[in-house]
Amino acid sequence: MNTTTCYLNGEYLPLNEARISPLDRGFLFGDGGYEVVPVYSRKLFRVDEHLKRLQQTLDGIHLANPHTVAEWTERVEKLVAAAPFDDQSVYLQVTRGADDKRDHAFPQGVAPTVFMFTAPLVTTPDSVRATGVAAVTAPDTRWARCDLKVVALLANVVARQSAVEQGCAETLFIRDGVMIEGAASNIFVVKGGVLLAPIKDHRMLPGITYDVVLELAAKHGVPHEVRDITEAELRSADEVWMTSSTKEVLPITTLDGQPVGTGVNAGKPGQLAQQMHVWYQQFKDEVMRRG
Ligand code: PDD
Repeated sequence: MNTTTCYLNGEYLPLNEARISPLDRGFLFGDGGYEVVPVYSRKLFRVDEHLKRLQQTLDGIHLANPHTVAEWTERVEKLVAAAPFDDQSVYLQVTRGADDKRDHAFPQGVAPTVFMFTAPLVTTPDSVRATGVAAVTAPDTRWARCDLKVVALLANVVARQSAVEQGCAETLFIRDGVMIEGAASNIFVVKGGVLLAPIKDHRMLPGITYDVVLELAAKHGVPHEVRDITEAELRSADEVWMTSSTKEVLPITTLDGQPVGTGVNAGKPGQLAQQMHVWYQQFKDEVMRRG
């Protein structure tokens, strides 16, 4: 039984005691948005950016944000302080609330449901980081607003499960011959010493980690390009990485059963991935020290 304190509509209570209506539109329609914010030593990482993306998601689905940035931050910080662990991943979700009937059109005068809970941050073990992970590809069957972080994640869930059933960590979506992103991560490719990043448009989630990686690439003088990455480029890449708030920068070393890269480095984490991981850890340390 999970008795960690959660937040539901203004109240802090044990997670196993939280209740919402079965008519909640999050449950009936997947009608809501969410964020996952990493917390290191009880300090929120890039929370302003996460809350800005939440605003973009809510704007995109015409759902009024029930809280200001200051109100969100205060609530998240209170939840983080109450948790019995230091490194956390905070989940926050806003749905269009529960009406007294089921109707696709938006209800009038119904308060949104605001839910948050926190869990220990699950980091990648060094042994896994040392080998990298395996991934598969699949056609991107999602809708045309993948830039919105909405709770309707069925296509992502099915894709991720397919990876798990094949003993893999992630599924990479391919749309019109272009590699878009992972089921729950952004994807970077390294080819000929150049870091390639997909374009932040309606086809993919604008990752907070993605932004950090590109900032670090710029800071450390790594040649990089933001553009469409073709499936052929993905398959002939020297390195492939997945990035997310919980995975940080993780090398993908096998793709559809084939080793990533060539020669002696084939199937091994690439040099730039390892370097980026180090820069990312340094960046986290600096940010957390600044408070
Ligand atoms: N997922 N793309 C998709 C489809 C994602 O679901 C995520 C993150 C990302 C990476 O975004 P960020 O760097 O901001 O975490 C990209 C979160 C972790 C989740 O759904 O649990």
